[in-house]
Amino acid sequence: MKHITCIEDLRQLHMRRVPRMFFDYADRGSYSEDTLRANRADLEAIKFRQRVLVDVSKRDLSTTILGEPASMPLILAPVGLLGMQHGDGEIIACRAAQAAGIPFTLSTMSICSIEDVAANVAKPFWFQLYVMKDRGFIKALIERAIAAKCSALVLTVDLQVIGQRHADIKNGMTVPPEWTLSKFFDFATKPAWVAGVLRGKRRTFGNLVGHLKGTDDITALAAWTATQFDTTLNWKDVDWIRSIWPGKLILKGILDVEDGNEAAKSGAQALVVSNHGGRQLDGAPSSIEALPEIVDTVGSRMEILFDGGVRSGQDVMRALALGAKSCMIGRAYVHGLGGGGEAGVAKAIDIIRNELLTTMGLCGVNTIAEIDDHVLAI
Ligand code: GLV
Repeated sequence: MKHITCIEDLRQLHMRRVPRMFFDYADRGSYSEDTLRANRADLEAIKFRQRVLVDVSKRDLSTTILGEPASMPLILAPVGLLGMQHGDGEIIACRAAQAAGIPFTLSTMSICSIEDVAANVAKPFWFQLYVMKDRGFIKALIERAIAAKCSALVLTVDLQVIGQRHADIKNGMTVPPEWTLSKFFDFATKPAWVAGVLRGKRRTFGNLVGHLKGTDDITALAAWTATQFDTTLNWKDVDWIRSIWPGKLILKGILDVEDGNEAAKSGAQALVVSNHGGRQLDGAPSSIEALPEIVDTVGSRMEILFDGGVRSGQDVMRALALGAKSCMIGRAYVHGLGGGGEAGVAKAIDIIRNELLTTMGLCGVNTIAEIDDHVLAI
């Protein structure tokens, strides 16, 4: 991987090695993708102050995330279908995160189940929860996360209705894939991907199959989710979840300051400022635009995490400068997973680590705690 110098290089490899429908599932956003583009454009518009003749020989990226030590302020975000990007994708992404000393979040919509991952990694991981209509199933799912010793529950609050992703419809995205002629030609040019996925433990939603009625013959992801996701979800349900889940609770998908205030009252320890990577409300502000006001209003009451458009260590520095405590990456590591498996995820983390270290040096900063808006040219 010597020629891989940035996340975009991993993205190019991902595009070459993984069938189009799964690459697009990860890479694309909803509707006109305005919010997807705004996430990147607004980050790129933030400029740093270049500082010189400061001793930066003792730079240190270590920090704590929800009270736990971490090697850097980075978390692998929950992403569905990792096992379709690479065989056993959830297990290998979790291993790469743990080797790097940062948290991994397993999605409800994963291919490997909670139990598969727990049996194959060394340390606890975070579990992301979608609330579905069948509350008995959700209670059992939380209990499975407790039994697997998951160290935090990430409740996603911004996907009770689904923003349409045009690419998924055009590509006929299904899990497991249906064998049409055009897909056959696409798969035929990606033999390593086919072999890896065939060797993997599963090819459909491991947390759901056999646990939820009607998921044994799952075909269209969108059709299924449209019927199962619970549009009644509201703040009272957060109390219900807290009555079952005894550990750390993180609310993911807060973009509005009033919702931030509610989140602070809910008893959750942290929130993630996120617009779901531009995959949900097209036309919503970028995550980085929403961040400062939420930090000002609730930052003293909760830990504020950031997600949306992070592709570099410079982006992590930008979000930290505006008050985030740590950043989540989604696409950035999925490109590594699709492009190069476990080594690819490790490479993605390493790229961001080195970029952050260099950016801190060139801004005259030695520790994560020192990063605030003084590093910005505004
Ligand atoms: C699910 O979280 C998705 O964005 O596809």
